[in-house]
Amino acid sequence: MAKNLAFPLVLATLTFTILPPLCGAQEANYDESKVPQYTLPDPLVCNDGTKVADADIWRQKRRAEILSLFEEHMFGKAPGKPQLMTFITTSVNKTALEGKATRKEVTVYFTGREQDPNMTILLYLPNNAAKPVPLFVGLNFQGNHAIHPDPGITITKSWVESGASHRATPDSRGKAASRWPVERILERGYGLATIYYGDIDPDFDDGFKNGVHPLYYKDGQTQPTPNEWGSIAAWAWGLSRAMDYFETDADIDNKHVAVMGHSRLGKTSLWAGATDERFAIVISNNSGCGGAALSRRAIGETVQRINTVFPHWFCDNFTKYNGREGELPIDQHMLIALIAPRPVYVASAEEDRWADPKGEFLSALYAGPVYKLLGKEPLPVAEMPPVSQPAMGTIAYHIRPGKHDVTDYDWDRYMDFADKHYKK
Ligand code: GCU
Repeated sequence: MAKNLAFPLVLATLTFTILPPLCGAQEANYDESKVPQYTLPDPLVCNDGTKVADADIWRQKRRAEILSLFEEHMFGKAPGKPQLMTFITTSVNKTALEGKATRKEVTVYFTGREQDPNMTILLYLPNNAAKPVPLFVGLNFQGNHAIHPDPGITITKSWVESGASHRATPDSRGKAASRWPVERILERGYGLATIYYGDIDPDFDDGFKNGVHPLYYKDGQTQPTPNEWGSIAAWAWGLSRAMDYFETDADIDNKHVAVMGHSRLGKTSLWAGATDERFAIVISNNSGCGGAALSRRAIGETVQRINTVFPHWFCDNFTKYNGREGELPIDQHMLIALIAPRPVYVASAEEDRWADPKGEFLSALYAGPVYKLLGKEPLPVAEMPPVSQPAMGTIAYHIRPGKHDVTDYDWDRYMDFADKHYKK
């Protein structure tokens, strides 16, 4: 568990309040005229300089190259599916939310041993929909009990950011409910699954002593090597373990699971979608630097800032690109391209300049040639659309008014997008 409890609190305070304007050597740039000249790597040119001629070469060669470039230089490599993992259903209530839903809680024991780190999946499935049901899954920031005031949700026992004891209290029930419109999701015939990200790896830099990393150290290893998983890759790995569970639950349509995440968890949903092709749809809500935003634009948050303030998010190799984004063998349009041919939705918020909405849009746009090669519709617009005018091909994008957040508007569009692709 946490060795130094004061540090994460300070970090968290900096992150959510004064970080963007004050932290770091220079002011963040928001001026388009100061965006450095850049050339993006071409997703359709292989490492050996040959052009990707067809869909087979993309699938057999180039996709694998790009995936390993992201592993090596940015997120770090994660272990695969653990062999001894077990799933224990700890509660089922068939009349949750005034009878609208079945609520389940399932604990995933990664090693099969109860004393090791484990995660709890909270599930709501609509009672009035035919089973199996399509699902949205996303990690949450404050504990499963924070997504809805439902008193039946178990309060997390994991380390949480808030409070002197770093233990969640009953008054945090439903605190994040505005970001999780559970009833709206159920009414549209979808289920929702969520997991507290801190179950997988508490979000502060402790040298990877807590969370799941130590479970996979080799003899004598005390921290990941420079190309091994950071916290984002660990959170994404946790989402894949949730998918392993979904494959065992007959009430869930595991061919129609959309992974959705906000902010650092939007970076995570993109990486989960890139590494695990079982996710049918991938949604990035305001994911910014290290997520959908192009690193080379260096608008708002930069590679150097993110690596300095959140040294545990990416693998150590990523720090080589601090202030040297132009030397990266990848950029974030290639992360979107890794999701092809599956539907991917990138969403921005107008006031979320720290996340560089234009850079998020451009990634979605520049992933287009890969989608086209695979016979899928790229973004149907060439310029950033006005606010509240979503553009939906197999790649989708919207920018809505307001701040860095997840709103009903965002969820409604994600469900429209899922309806469209699932032909509901
Ligand atoms: C910080 C960080 C972002 C991140 C965000 C969040 O603002 O700089 O990269 O997306 O926190 O996760 O809320």
